Amino acid sequence: MTVSASVDKLLQLIEFGIHISGIKELKQLMEKVLKTAQDLTYAKMAVFYLVTDDSLELVARRNTHTFHIPDNFHEKKLIPISPNRLAGFCVLNSKIVNISAADRQGLVDTYDLEHELGLLNLQLFHSMLLVPLINQNRKILGVLQLIDSTNNEGDFIPFSESIIPVMESLASQSAVAIQNAQLSRDITSTYYETIFRLSLAAECRDKETANHIFRVSSYSKIIARYAGFTKSFQDMIQYSSPMHDVGKLGIPDSILFKTGKLTPEERILMQSHTEIGWKIFEGSDYEILQMAGRVALSHHEKYDGSGYPKGLKGNIIPVEGRIVAIADVFDALCSIRRYKFSFPTDQVFMNLKSETGHHFDPILLNAFFMGLEEILEVKKKYTVSES
Ligand SMILES: [Fe+2]
Ligand SMILES: [Fe+2]
Repeated sequence: MTVSASVDKLLQLIEFGIHISGIKELKQLMEKVLKTAQDLTYAKMAVFYLVTDDSLELVARRNTHTFHIPDNFHEKKLIPISPNRLAGFCVLNSKIVNISAADRQGLVDTYDLEHELGLLNLQLFHSMLLVPLINQNRKILGVLQLIDSTNNEGDFIPFSESIIPVMESLASQSAVAIQNAQLSRDITSTYYETIFRLSLAAECRDKETANHIFRVSSYSKIIARYAGFTKSFQDMIQYSSPMHDVGKLGIPDSILFKTGKLTPEERILMQSHTEIGWKIFEGSDYEILQMAGRVALSHHEKYDGSGYPKGLKGNIIPVEGRIVAIADVFDALCSIRRYKFSFPTDQVFMNLKSETGHHFDPILLNAFFMGLEEILEVKKKYTVSES
């Protein structure tokens, strides 16, 4: 490598380090790692594997310009971490494997090349570089596979030995960033599961189901998207809407499970689940929990002011409450509840439409109907026998 080429690669590495430290999303991170690895080595293809239990899982692939994440079962590839696999060898020995076309034939006897990694036809590769992703505790998180290095003329050449230290540096920076992204993903999943379980505790008291919570959460997100809200608002409403009835935890069993008609006093008590929900989240410093409080308080308000607990009207009702009201009523009308059987879908749509401007915000109801196809997909997927 010439001095200017070395400096150039060093600058690319520094830029890479600065860039990835700010990326928390795993998919985005993998794309950046694969692209930089290709830019540094002029490889035609780059593949990302993560260690899962005793295997390596193909999690992302990048051809010259296109990035791809396997999203169905058939595309997912699991490679056992064993010494007769090149990637397995790379993991077990914690070292880079550099193979040229000349080496290829010699490898056939030792390695199970037929089933090796992401290559469709192994006999066609010209060169391959396997780089283990090792974190600061010497733990291997995955493998970066680069295929077919080229020169300026586009001819296939072996991966240069001088690129190895550069790739080692890229791999160790990537391993730390991936570890952080996985941690942040775990925190988000734990958080969502906690919310979900808390919501379920409340809904179980009302003989509701986990699917109801999931559907309302998904419908709310779809409505928000079709109404033009930002991705972060959509995520916030997805995570806060499951808690709309969490205040039912504070309603006595004698009222919650009463089979006959509620007395006016009991009705007022029942309606107080909105304010109890608000009190649970009041004063939280976290935006999602603040939104959960607003949703809990306002999901029974009606656009024309005839709802409860405050009788708020129109746009004075927090928008998240107006969205969840549509999602929750739609799901209630479609589901079998204690006192009634579900309505046919056509009748549900007519009921919703007849409430535009009365119970529901017309613009948001319009967004609901714009997203109807997706809403019905969620309904189909998350409706099991609830009898
Ligand atoms: Fe409610
Ligand atoms: Fe509900």
